[in-house]
Amino acid sequence: MTDLHMHVLPGMDDGSRDAAMSVAMLERSAAGGVDTVAATSHFYAEDNDIPRFLARRRTAWGRLAEAIGDREDLPQVLLGAEVLYFGGISGVDTLDALCLEGTDLLLLEMPFVPWPDRVLREVEAIQRSGLQVVAAHIERYMDIQSRRVMEAFFDLGTFIQCNGSFFLSRRTARQALRMFRQGQIQFLGSDAHNLTSRPPDLGEAVQVIERKLGREAVGRFFAGVDFFIGG
Ligand SMILES: [Fe+2]
Repeated sequence: MTDLHMHVLPGMDDGSRDAAMSVAMLERSAAGGVDTVAATSHFYAEDNDIPRFLARRRTAWGRLAEAIGDREDLPQVLLGAEVLYFGGISGVDTLDALCLEGTDLLLLEMPFVPWPDRVLREVEAIQRSGLQVVAAHIERYMDIQSRRVMEAFFDLGTFIQCNGSFFLSRRTARQALRMFRQGQIQFLGSDAHNLTSRPPDLGEAVQVIERKLGREAVGRFFAGVDFFIGG
């Protein structure tokens, strides 16, 4: 079971504070049945350029890898990024360096404002360049966008990632399960930042899906995930 979205690298962003917290987050993930975690630290183009981000990520990963040592009970960690959309992103020719390790999947955080058409055109251009966009936590935008814009976005054919909380909130669970059942979601993530307010909760979310839609549906879903990440 892969958690495609987690702020687990220590000291990179508003996620894990230090290596001990990162290890505890991985322990919690493993307890929920997760065997692979994508470390998707925030990439904000206004604070970082890509080489500097990658250098910081290497250092953070070094600290975490040392804390993990030879423990085999923890999920494997794949290095990635959660890239906040910015104007001109599709023209950045080293964007592939921010894809999830070993894949051409780019976890893209969309702007939290109504999307003008040029934003959609730019996402389309990223896709055309050969990268596969994964729209991070799509449920967080759906109330902001008009139905027409949301439909146009889905028509771009990006992959869709949803957070565990989408399934765990009583307010949204029904919609989450409907989207899952209809095959509109390709990846799940906890988007965990810590152990308290935003913990690794993918295991709980998957239990909800299993209870409502059955083990088989969940098995099929994660077989698809494994296929995309080469697992
Ligand atoms: Fe995130």
